[in-house]
Amino acid sequence: MALWVPVLGALLMFIVAYLCLPGLFRQRRPQEPPLDKGAVPWLGHAMAFRKNMFEFLKRMQAKHGDVFTLQLGGRYFTFVMDPLSFGPILRDAQRKLDFVQYARELVLKVFGYQALPEDNRMIHSASAKHLMGDGLQELNKSMLHSLSLVMLGPNGRSPDTSCWHEDGLFHFCYNTLFKAGYLSLFGYTKDKEQDLLQAEDLFARFRKFDLLFPRFVYSLLGPQEWLEVGRLQSFFHKRLSVSHSLEKDGISKWISYMLQFLREQGVDAAMQSKFNFMMLWASQGNIGPTSFWALLFLLKHPEAMQAVREEATHVLGEARLEAKQSFVFEFSALQHTPVLDSVLEETLRLASAPTLLRVVHDDNSILKMASGREYLLRRGDIVALFPYLSVQMDPDIHPEPTVFKYNRFLNPNGSRKVDFYKAGTKIHHYTMPWGWGVSICPGRFLALSEMKLFVLLMVTHFDLELVDPNTPVPAVDPKRWGFGTTQPSHDVRFRYRLQPMK
Ligand code: HEM
Ligand SMILES: *[C@@H]1O[C@H](CO)[C@@H](O)[C@H](O)[C@H]1NC(C)=O
Ligand SMILES: *[C@@H]1O[C@H](CO)[C@@H](O)[C@H](O)[C@H]1NC(C)=O
Repeated sequence: MALWVPVLGALLMFIVAYLCLPGLFRQRRPQEPPLDKGAVPWLGHAMAFRKNMFEFLKRMQAKHGDVFTLQLGGRYFTFVMDPLSFGPILRDAQRKLDFVQYARELVLKVFGYQALPEDNRMIHSASAKHLMGDGLQELNKSMLHSLSLVMLGPNGRSPDTSCWHEDGLFHFCYNTLFKAGYLSLFGYTKDKEQDLLQAEDLFARFRKFDLLFPRFVYSLLGPQEWLEVGRLQSFFHKRLSVSHSLEKDGISKWISYMLQFLREQGVDAAMQSKFNFMMLWASQGNIGPTSFWALLFLLKHPEAMQAVREEATHVLGEARLEAKQSFVFEFSALQHTPVLDSVLEETLRLASAPTLLRVVHDDNSILKMASGREYLLRRGDIVALFPYLSVQMDPDIHPEPTVFKYNRFLNPNGSRKVDFYKAGTKIHHYTMPWGWGVSICPGRFLALSEMKLFVLLMVTHFDLELVDPNTPVPAVDPKRWGFGTTQPSHDVRFRYRLQPMK
């Protein structure tokens, strides 16, 4: 027994040294960005970063300027904060930056999915076929159908839907869009009532996973939470298993195209289920929270609500819904809603806060800034962009950046505004809610279409109001910066009812 103590001690020291040494000895070389290793070996600034990334990066930018390298949990991240210098990083013409490598590590940990090197290209080509342009027609229709089912129930309009209901606005939006989106993408059985119950149960667990997600990614879960995450993962692997989906009708072409590809690559059924879990997450994790912010901003800004309603009446005519019907929409009319488009773009500017990460391929890679200055980067380091801070909250590009202005993305003549400037230079990337470059969200057109449908249905067919009209817009949960759409630190009560028949 006593013999083991020194052996264990030595082993422990070895591990600690192994983890900390690279950090201890790393020094800034000439022409490298300022290096800030933080006070704690290996961890570096990880704790402050994870606690509130937005505030922390603001401090770092004030201290170091527009480029700096930070140690975060044993890895080195070079943050580029000047948006006029984003172009070469996002275009990456010489293929010196790698998105896939880091993403593969992450999806293995979070979803258990072992990605293939071709996945990124495959996902983007499946999406170009089925989530954009004319390919979107089918999902547009099935989304409208699913939203009707979820919002009105399996039998269409009934007296019950016309009573006032009270709910948390965040819960209502997330729940509604999750169920509709899940059913549209992953299909139905013959029993619609049962489908809705199953989708409801799926959402409850999805939300549990969602709440643990940021700390899971950062490896900060307690032992109980670890077990919980493991249980949730197995639940989703089982529920989304391909044997289940074979029994379903109307599974979207997007999903079936991708699963077909995996089968052709010899990926086994268990791994395909994990892929489904990853796609459920990618397709449903942001859409509900974004719709929440959109409706909340409309409820807090009556002039915006008024403008959206007027536009809707103008392009769609008076909303009408007879008994036992589902919603009807002319999709071609939905291409002419600049006011609603601006509301959604403004909402995404305020609410979408992803981090864009790229791993540096080679030593001495050159990072060229708009100022002409050049920095050297090391192999294995990560180039990171946080457009929420650098672009979306820049008062030079967007005056009064924290204020919701529904017409911020409208020209005076009512067309979409695309001209924005920083320091007098026209800026191409004036908001980046979908990321950019190789990892840009391939679902963005479907996402916009879903949110448009949902918001239009809510404002044209429903009466809705905040329970307390004076309730302020809640602060965002600071642990979610960097993970896509932010979430409120608490929910907001509201009530709604289907408008009485005229
Ligand atoms: C408001 C809603 C949405 C927002 C704000 C959003 C945002 C994003 C962002 C920022 C990324 C890139 C992450 C990165 O750079 O690593 C991403 C990736 C992705 N999104 Fe979305 N998204 C939304 C909705 C959707 C929907 C509805 C779908 C599909 C139906 C979807 C499918 C995907 C997929 C598959 C990826 C991974 C792409 C890859 O591997 O390169 N997203 N999304
Ligand atoms: C509306 O105004 C913008 C700029 O203010 C201009 O680029 C655009 O051509 C105008 N569109 C029409 C239809 O007049
Ligand atoms: C899908 O719906 C969106 C609006 O919800 C519309 O802008 C788009 O043109 C539609 N696409 C097709 C192919 O119907």
